[in-house]
Amino acid sequence: MTNETDTAVTVLGLGLMGRALAAGLLAAGHTTTVWNRTPGKAGELVAAGARPAATAAAAVRASALTIVCLTDYPAVYELLDTADLTDRTLINLTSGDSAQARTAARWAEQRGARYLDGAIMAVPPVIGTAEAVLLYSGPRADFETHEPTLAALGTASHLGDDHGLASLYDVAGLAMMWSVLNAWLQGTAMLRTAGVDAATFAPFARQIAAGVAEWLPGYAEQIDRGAYPAEVSALATDARAMVHLVEESEALGVNAELPRLIKAMADRAIAAGHGDEQYPVLIKEFGKPR
Ligand SMILES: NC(=O)c1ccc[n+]([C@@H]2O[C@H](COP(=O)([O-])OP(=O)(O)OC[C@H]3O[C@@H](n4cnc5c(N)ncnc54)[C@H](OP(=O)(O)O)[C@@H]3O)[C@@H](O)[C@H]2O)c1
Repeated sequence: MTNETDTAVTVLGLGLMGRALAAGLLAAGHTTTVWNRTPGKAGELVAAGARPAATAAAAVRASALTIVCLTDYPAVYELLDTADLTDRTLINLTSGDSAQARTAARWAEQRGARYLDGAIMAVPPVIGTAEAVLLYSGPRADFETHEPTLAALGTASHLGDDHGLASLYDVAGLAMMWSVLNAWLQGTAMLRTAGVDAATFAPFARQIAAGVAEWLPGYAEQIDRGAYPAEVSALATDARAMVHLVEESEALGVNAELPRLIKAMADRAIAAGHGDEQYPVLIKEFGKPR
């Protein structure tokens, strides 16, 4: 059952992302109230039917659901610490880490609000399309209540009741993204010394990345089982190839920090007796502080 109260949404923060979120909600026909600290950013949204609120506190009272998307978590507290959040649902799509998300959940709940934390795995232009993936965590019932509304923003995925999960996935995704990009930049730097340009290497690199991605389910199964039989290659074999990577990088005069780090981690695992096991045994190195 939907009625105007169910589908009315407030968006706080009309930066690049907040404006895209509000536009997506408007396009889906939701009554959308908007507010931004600096005036003048709501013009196009208001022309498209958004209702401007005079204050953030008034904006929160205008809808059962408020979506907040600011620069960081301290900005959220600064903005809403004195607002009346009683009986409202707050969905915080501001980027942060899992501890910030869990702390914000307690803060919101102490103010009588229901709280979901979220992470946006997309850029503003794709908000409102299925290509935009938005992750949510917090009580499932609260997510399900608002799921039809959140569908206006993109593909909504609920990760679990733990409020920290969306941020944790977000940061884990960043680890993937930067690691893949850094590996590509390393290879590009090496090949450029031989006159191979980045565009020539890119399709080859893409093929390698896609091939490695295919290994993940099987390797994940080994990690979850805690057993790493060398089915295709032993870590000691990989470590010998890592020597080539380090020595080649040094000989070419390109940065060898990443190759050395890769090799140092494998060397530690081998020293701990894991040389005969398969690559994902390195989770033991990744899983402890250093
Ligand atoms: N843009 C992206 O591609 C993207 C992708 C994924 C996630 N995100 C996340 O989305 C969030 C917003 O990003 P954005 O790109 O929209 O940033 P942005 O364009 O810089 O907008 C930041 C927004 O936060 C507001 N703000 C900052 N401090 C505030 C405070 N103390 N009180 C009230 N409002 C405050 C700003 O208001 P003023 O206009 O008054 O300065 C503005 O509306 C970030 O956490 C970002 O990591 C962005």
